Amino acid sequence: MKSINSKGIKAAITAVSGYVPSEILSNSDLEKMVDTNDEWIVSRTGIKERRIARNPLEPTSFLAIQAANQLLQKKNIDPLTIDLVLVATVTPDMGVAATAAYVATQIGAHNAFGFDLQAACSGFLYGMSTASMYIESGRYKKVLLIGADKMSSIVDYTDRTTCIIFGDGAGAVLFEPSENDFGFENSYLRSDGSGRDSLNIKAGGSLHPFDENTFTEGSHNIMQDGQTVFKNAVKNMADASEKVMLQNKLSGDDIAFLLPHQANKRIIDATARRMNLSEDRVLMNIEKYGNTTSATLPLLLSDYESKFSKGDKLIFAAFGGGFTWGAVYLTWNYNN
Ligand code: UT7
Repeated sequence: MKSINSKGIKAAITAVSGYVPSEILSNSDLEKMVDTNDEWIVSRTGIKERRIARNPLEPTSFLAIQAANQLLQKKNIDPLTIDLVLVATVTPDMGVAATAAYVATQIGAHNAFGFDLQAACSGFLYGMSTASMYIESGRYKKVLLIGADKMSSIVDYTDRTTCIIFGDGAGAVLFEPSENDFGFENSYLRSDGSGRDSLNIKAGGSLHPFDENTFTEGSHNIMQDGQTVFKNAVKNMADASEKVMLQNKLSGDDIAFLLPHQANKRIIDATARRMNLSEDRVLMNIEKYGNTTSATLPLLLSDYESKFSKGDKLIFAAFGGGFTWGAVYLTWNYNN
C-alpha cells in the first residue's frame, strides 16, 4: 500500500517518547523463580533484563499516560488539539471500555476520540498505517499513537518458556501532516489466522469464557509454541522487509536503520541478514526491556531518536500472534 493520496498529504512522525517502569527483573532474579539461567536466556534470546510494573495501580493505561504526557510536554503540545488517540495493546485495562478512551481523557485530549487496536506484536506496526491514513484523509491533523503493554499481567511466572521473554513498557508517537517530503511511505501488512493456536491467551474471549477450569489450567495467561512462532517470525519478518524494499526499489545500502520488533535477537539477526544490513544499522534494546509487545517499536524510536536525521530511510518490521506481520517504510521527518 503506497501512501500517495489525491490531496497530496503525507503523514509524518513529528514527536516520540517512551516510558518503562523503574523496577528491573533481571535474568538472575528469574533464576530464583524458574529452572533457567542467564547463559541460556542471553544466548537464546539476547535478553538480560526487563522492566516490571508491579504496582496493581499501574495498569497499561498508566504506562501509556506516562509516555503520552512526556511527548506532549517535550513538544509543548496542547492536548486539546489532538484529534485521535490510538492505543495498540494486548493488555487493555479492561475487556470492554477502550484503554485509549481513558488515556485520552486523562491526558486532557477532550476533543479526541479513542480506540484500541489489537494485533499482538504487530499492533504498533498496523497502528502506524492506521494513524497515517487518518492524516492522509485530510480530516485529522494530530493522531497520537501509543503502543503499551503490561505483559507481566498476563505472564505465568512459573512458565519458563514465556516468563523470560516479556516485559512492560509504553511508547508514543505523534502523526501530523508532513511539511516536507518525508513521512509514511509504504507498508506491506499480512495475517494468517491458522497460526492462532501457536500463540494466544485462550480464555476470556467468547470462544472460551472464563470459568473455574480456565483458572485451574492457567489459560488466562499467554502461551506459545516457541519454536513454531520462531520459525514463522524469522521467515515472515524477513519476507515482509524484503517485499517493502523491493516495492520501493531500495537496497540494503539505502536503509539508514531497521527497527525490528524486539522478540528475540536471533529473529532480528536473521531479518537483518536477509536485508543485507550491517549490525550498526539494526536497532536493538531487547537486552534491557525484553519483548514489550506493542511497545517495542516506539521504545526503539524513543531510545534512538537522536541518531535519526531528516530524510533517513527507516524500515519497521514485526511479527506476532494471530499470526500478524509486516513491514513499514518511513522517511524520517526532522532533525533533533
Ligand atoms: O513477539 C512474538 C512472540 N514470541 C516470539 O517471537 C518468540 C519466538 N520463540 C522464541 O523466541 C524461542 O522459541 C524461545 C526463546 C521461546 C525458546 O528458544 P528455543 O531455542 O526455541 O528453545 P526450545 O523451545 O527449542 O527449547 C530448547 C530446550 C528445551 O529443553 P530440551 O527439550 O532440549 O531438554 C527446553 O525445555 O530449552 C529448554 N528451555 C529452557 N531452558 C532454560 C525452554 N525454556 C527454557 C528456559 N531456560 N527459560
